[in-house]
Amino acid sequence: MNVQPQPVLTQLTRSAIFVTADINPGGEDKVREMVSNWGGYTRAVGFRRLDGGLAPVVGIGSHAWDRLFSGPRPMNLHPFTEIRGEKHTAPATGGDLLFHVRAVDFDLCFAFMQEVFGPLGDAVTVTDEVHGFRYFDERDLLGFVDGTENPSGEAADEYVLIGEQDPAFVGGSYVIVQKYLHDLRAWDAITVEEQERAIGRRKLSDIEFPDADKAADAHTVLNSINDENGNPLKIVRDNMPFGQASTGPYGTYFIGYAADPAVTERMLRNMFIGDPPGTSDRILDFSTAHTGALFFVPSADLLENPPSPAPSA
Ligand code: HEM
Repeated sequence: MNVQPQPVLTQLTRSAIFVTADINPGGEDKVREMVSNWGGYTRAVGFRRLDGGLAPVVGIGSHAWDRLFSGPRPMNLHPFTEIRGEKHTAPATGGDLLFHVRAVDFDLCFAFMQEVFGPLGDAVTVTDEVHGFRYFDERDLLGFVDGTENPSGEAADEYVLIGEQDPAFVGGSYVIVQKYLHDLRAWDAITVEEQERAIGRRKLSDIEFPDADKAADAHTVLNSINDENGNPLKIVRDNMPFGQASTGPYGTYFIGYAADPAVTERMLRNMFIGDPPGTSDRILDFSTAHTGALFFVPSADLLENPPSPAPSA
């Protein structure tokens, strides 16, 4: 691929900031400027610590795209819609912009966001800001290692980056985010064996259960999906724990990148409705989704040379 993507596929980091924001009326010019300066901010802040692993990604929501740019739009860009199962609901809370800023140390994430948001001023309203941290050996706050089955290397590129199927947007990606809060008291009240059954893996060792021993409502069963020819469909996740240590809340910020958002949406339907319907994901009995939104992640090259402004601008 000759196109430079944003750093969507990056080493797992110790820190991340997740921000969603809406563009205020009249804020479009400043947002377009911010987007085209994204590479410059990344170089300037990243150069302050070359081994700091700064990897900032910006995503643009469906309505925002039409307010910002003219010309062709990304083929599969649409707003995230609520998924309502019998027991659990994945809400759609919208958002014009997503900022997913990762680095080894938190100060780089923080400094990067300050540089970006300074000039933005009142062009945007922040709707959510979450500071994620690495918890022991890549565990979530449920205590399980999270991210093991992520695709890596060239396979990850194929699953995550748009190819020639959408020529104007090669090297782009789609991202879905959801902020989950856990009921850790209820989770800790069940046995480790029950927790392992909910995930489909051993808690301490992270070893996967044999398929035949997995429950129909296990998280890893509902999220292992194939296309009509039996080929696996995958996404790349970079979930992070977050919360207030003293009092809670305790949460997992879910973030999943895919070349086609339909893959992530199918996983979500499996989790919230069940596959077959009725087998909703056991981890949802202890984890509630409070937000949900979908964004297009342009390639780094497209950010540097964005499409022309929308005619109304
Ligand atoms: C696997 C945790 C939400 C998709 C896993 C694993 C854990 C985990 C512990 C097993 C290790 C691994 O392979 O990473 C969580 C938590 C969530 C959450 C705590 C939120 C509360 C989601 C959501 C999706 C998702 C919303 C998709 C829309 C997957 C996939 C796998 C996985 C695709 C790998 C399945 C496999 O191939 O075995 N998750 N997850 N997860 N999760 Fe999640």
